[in-house]
Amino acid sequence: MASKVSPFLHSGTVAQADKLSIVHLKRDLQLPTILREHDDDDEGYAEGKVVNTRFGSFPHKTLIGRPWGSQILASRVDTGSRGRRDQKPEKRHRDGIEAPEKKRKRDELEEESKTASKRSRADNGESLDAGVNESVVAKEEAEAVTAQSGFIHLLAPTPENWTSSLPHRTQVVYTPDYSYILHRLKARPGSQIIEAGAGSGSFTHASARAIYHGYPGSEVPNGSHTKKQKLGKVWSYEFHEQRHEKLQKEIHDHGLDGIVEITHRDVCEDGFLVNGKSPNAEAVFLDLPAPWLALPHLVRSKPGTFVSPLNPSATVYICSFSPCIEQVQKTMSVMRQLGWVDIEMVAIAHKRFEIRRERIGIDNGAQRGLQTIPASVDEALQRLLEVEGNFKVFHDTGAKTKRKRDNPNNREKIMESLVEKKIYKDGKLVHRTEPEVKNHTSYLVFAILPQEWSAEDEARVRAEWPAVARKGDGVVTMSNRALKKAATRAAREEREKAAAAKKAHASELNGEKSEEKPAISGEKSTIPIESPVLDGGESDFKAS
Ligand SMILES: C[S@@+](CC[C@H](N)C(=O)[O-])C[C@H]1O[C@@H](n2cnc3c(N)ncnc32)[C@H](O)[C@@H]1O
Repeated sequence: MASKVSPFLHSGTVAQADKLSIVHLKRDLQLPTILREHDDDDEGYAEGKVVNTRFGSFPHKTLIGRPWGSQILASRVDTGSRGRRDQKPEKRHRDGIEAPEKKRKRDELEEESKTASKRSRADNGESLDAGVNESVVAKEEAEAVTAQSGFIHLLAPTPENWTSSLPHRTQVVYTPDYSYILHRLKARPGSQIIEAGAGSGSFTHASARAIYHGYPGSEVPNGSHTKKQKLGKVWSYEFHEQRHEKLQKEIHDHGLDGIVEITHRDVCEDGFLVNGKSPNAEAVFLDLPAPWLALPHLVRSKPGTFVSPLNPSATVYICSFSPCIEQVQKTMSVMRQLGWVDIEMVAIAHKRFEIRRERIGIDNGAQRGLQTIPASVDEALQRLLEVEGNFKVFHDTGAKTKRKRDNPNNREKIMESLVEKKIYKDGKLVHRTEPEVKNHTSYLVFAILPQEWSAEDEARVRAEWPAVARKGDGVVTMSNRALKKAATRAAREEREKAAAAKKAHASELNGEKSEEKPAISGEKSTIPIESPVLDGGESDFKAS
């Protein structure tokens, strides 16, 4: 059993310390944060660990224990000692770099802090002899004070919000793509899925949730069966050392150990076995610059000693993700050569629509969705007369007329227009696409590798499920309709066999004659047509 349960899989109802949470600033702007009770990194805030955003500062202690989805108000944080702590204490002490004056001031501050802490604890009736770390207590004592403005929402981590907030180390697969890919790969609880390369881990997190069926060691008998349930796993590969290390750490921090296994490997060179063991995968996702070089490792058999990374008793589904059409062509060509079928390319064009009311008029003030142009000729005329009148007064008297206009955006007016006039129901309903939706426009190549079917398999299933039905002794294995169909088929096969035998006999009798007969133009040629052999043996035009 994993030491840590992933918040991506079981988020609970509230944000917990030492677990990932998502600080949601606005749509498409989120900050992943591991919440800490204490400021172990000594960042110098009196309130402990703090997350700073453009909407204010949020001490972690104001987030821990709050229900997911809560709106959290910003706090005024005490940054008093931050400047001094920019230098780590051990650095300050090293070689006596710290000036005696500075040291004295720091000692005084630390002493003050300790005294304040002791006083506070004494006020609360706590024993001053408790053997606790003084500095930690001092930090705990600083209460967060709510700021005048600024808030965020606290969200449970999901693969979707992780994708939009993760630290990018590479181009990543976005939600519109991976949701479709996982659906086409038939990824489900218990699936074994190969993923290469892992990159920034966007697809890794999404696939981990799709295949999750419990942590290793937590298997329970599957319902009434004694068979243990099959646990899903993501077999992930990355050849870039730093990316591999970073992702490994993230997977550990996110409690996904045992569900995701990351291997540092060039899959094009070394294939997909892990310590000589097959992942037994039934789904494969390739996000590589040259996927066609990895494909020869994803076969069921090869001459010599070869262990396939694929599940021998299942159909295998593959998706290759490539930005260029030339990559797609090469990948498809090699797929055909290796026996993949149902090869198909798809591009996801995801669009988000903004739908709103469009109102027209000049007297409604600057409200959302309002086009401030006259809604009718009458409204335009009225405005024109007003302006002309003002001009006339100015020319006649030289006085500027100040039109007294009510502010259309004052609270009363807005409430009146919303509650009484139900202005939100006015106007045409319009929509427009939002151009900034993030999805990486790559081509997705899908294919299927059917299960290998040997003569032994055929014999085994025929023995297991006999096709011949026996009626009469009470055993009926086929419906009457199916029986009738089978009888018709058997009779047809019998007729065809007899006709073929007759034909063979006839040609045997005139054998020599027909061999001598020259081919006449217009008759079907008996000369076999050789299929074209293409450059480098790659039959680009070979049908699947
Ligand atoms: C575009 S990124 C993958 C992004 C990832 N799918 C995600 O959603 O975050 C491609 C990754 O493949 C890795 N890579 C390229 N060739 C590889 C190979 N032969 N074996 C393993 N990894 C490889 C690269 O280092 C890179 O990190």
